[in-house]
Amino acid sequence: MKKSKTNFFCQHCGYMSPKWLGKCPSCSGWNCFAEELISRSDEGARADLRFDGKPLPINDIPAEEGKRISTGIVEIDRVLGGGIVGGSAVLIGGEPGIGKSTLLLQMVQNLAAGDLKVLYVSGEESAGQIKLRAKRIGASAKNLLVLVEVSLERILEQIKAVQPALVVIDSIQTVYASELMSAPGSVGQVRETSSQLILFAKKFAIPVFLIGHVTKDGSIAGPKVLEHMVDTVLYFEGDSGHAYRIIRSIKNRFGPTNEIGVFEMHDQGLREVPNPSSFFLAERPQNVAGSVVVPSIEGTRPILVEIQALVSATNLGMPRRTAIGVDYNRVSLLVAVLDKICGLHISSSDIFINVAGGARVEEPAVDLGIVAAMASSFLDRPLDGRTVVLGEVGLTGEVRAISQMEARVREAARLGFTRCLIPKTNAVKFSGMPKIDVITISSLKELLENSF
Ligand code: TYD
Ligand code: MG
Repeated sequence: MKKSKTNFFCQHCGYMSPKWLGKCPSCSGWNCFAEELISRSDEGARADLRFDGKPLPINDIPAEEGKRISTGIVEIDRVLGGGIVGGSAVLIGGEPGIGKSTLLLQMVQNLAAGDLKVLYVSGEESAGQIKLRAKRIGASAKNLLVLVEVSLERILEQIKAVQPALVVIDSIQTVYASELMSAPGSVGQVRETSSQLILFAKKFAIPVFLIGHVTKDGSIAGPKVLEHMVDTVLYFEGDSGHAYRIIRSIKNRFGPTNEIGVFEMHDQGLREVPNPSSFFLAERPQNVAGSVVVPSIEGTRPILVEIQALVSATNLGMPRRTAIGVDYNRVSLLVAVLDKICGLHISSSDIFINVAGGARVEEPAVDLGIVAAMASSFLDRPLDGRTVVLGEVGLTGEVRAISQMEARVREAARLGFTRCLIPKTNAVKFSGMPKIDVITISSLKELLENSF
């Protein structure tokens, strides 16, 4: 007989406690504990999910490099670090309607067309609905199998029977394990079902893609715990009002993080955007104050983004600050430096910062760009439109060296920029100098004197 037992779980972070708590010791959330019935059945149930491993000398373990499967979609391959690794578990999070199902259906169609057997498990839509989407994006490979199922036990049975090369679960919130009494999508269920699927993936070396919905506070499936369990976490983001979509790796055991892939949503599915720099700069206004272009590194690639600032007189007692796409605290710091060190009295103005095209740049290398955009808007003097700005800003107004300067400058030159302002300490000779004037500066004062 199964013995039932209940435990309490934090609905935000998945923290487990044997008794109810008002405040979560892990995420400090209040009133977020819910009781969940967990009935741990005896051994047997998970016996076939054991590894039965033995310790091995490290030299006897064969290296598994080079076994990656290419998805045929360059942007996804790059975000994954060069293709899908055998037995890996990948979580794709995103808001409803952003295009997760579309993206994965396109991916599995590509794999199936390349003669790999793929199983697409959906608990969200009927087979007919999936067929409708498949028709839209032209998915018709005979090796693409669709299973509409929500019971974990049956999904595992079918995977064993079909032996696919890859499994997609759309979405993890719809799957339930019958051992647990709680509803599908609850913390306990999501944790249990994904852990069994991941174990299964590892044991049989079948890569598993889990689709997860993002909750209002931005975490996947409520429990953060899911992010720790998988090998790779990808976020699919973008504004459903715009056509662009960005897939970003947040965690990757097999590649760089913060790598991005850019797509555009069309009426026949998602299309790759091979040149994101020109995409992000497409609508840039010419010769207006408050707009500055910065080559930012996303993962392994330099991408040019436009930082816009609007500094305007406030009519409130406390001026407003808004930062979209850049770090809010960083902006406050830079405002203080401009005000105190450079004598540019902007801290009593409303300040709005935005990165055009929905991009997000959080590295310190964009500091100087933010400062230049704010100063340009405040002084109402545009920065030369063919100039890019790079550098980290310190608290005394000094401009500090940043990493990967050569790649950034080359990308700017490639897109037709003719001048770049960089930190003095970065002024090393580039091999085969790109066609661009390099101007070095060592302090914010120099930037203000030279650029406006
Ligand atoms: P979907 O993949 O169902 O999103 P998710 O799985 O993340 O919830 O995408 C749904 C949206 O994409 C929907 O608003 C319609 C749009 N769409 C297109 O614009 N073109 C297409 O070819 C497809 C398949 C969907
Ligand atoms: Mg979907």
